Amino acid sequence: MEIVTRGGPGQLEAAEFDQLRARYSSTLIDLGTGDGAWPRRFARDFDNCLAVGIDPDRSALREAAKMAERKPARGGAPNALYVAASAESLPAELRESADWVTIYFPWAALLRMILAGDDRLGELLRFLCRPRSRFSVVLNAEAPPEGFEPPTPESVRGSLEAPLNAAGFRITQTDWLDPDRAPPTTWAGRLVKGSGRAMIGLDATR
Ligand SMILES: C[S@@+](CC[C@H](N)C(=O)[O-])C[C@H]1O[C@@H](n2cnc3c(N)ncnc32)[C@H](O)[C@@H]1O
Repeated sequence: MEIVTRGGPGQLEAAEFDQLRARYSSTLIDLGTGDGAWPRRFARDFDNCLAVGIDPDRSALREAAKMAERKPARGGAPNALYVAASAESLPAELRESADWVTIYFPWAALLRMILAGDDRLGELLRFLCRPRSRFSVVLNAEAPPEGFEPPTPESVRGSLEAPLNAAGFRITQTDWLDPDRAPPTTWAGRLVKGSGRAMIGLDATR
């Protein structure tokens, strides 16, 4: 699969990724990671975990990799990895690799997939997730894409119940989130903490 490092794009073969994962007790996959701050922060807090940020935006990932490859004393995290891919075409190497999948403040196709309760979301979770895994989504409730109503916790639960059940997940929580429960991502800081915009969080377990 295509990874992005400070030096630019590279390739990581399935066996190399499996060896890397085997060095850690669990793997986080953050889809639509943007500047990759969340997986880097998670990797710093939990050095026994591998944190993988995925996004099709290679230039954002390059900046993410530059931060992660700094010395730990300067904010780096050697256990963070960035993969260039879109949610609709995930590389085969990621099959059944995730113990926790997060999607925070998605936009464009990724957001439409969630709001529409697209079957492809269930398919990608079935593909990515290991048994007994967790799935978390946080949405900005005030910026629906064209053709969608502003979501509510009820509408998000209603959309995601079927695709999540199909992937073996059970929704454990869907709620409005206060700003102090925002995940530590860059967009949370930009969109929500500053303006107090409404956020919806959903959690599910398998
Ligand atoms: C608003 S940014 C959020 C970035 C980060 N999660 C955060 O909270 O700071 C939305 C991200 O979703 C990514 N994205 C949009 N469509 C996607 C898709 N189909 N597959 C993967 N990522 C996608 C974009 O490239 C962008 O980086």
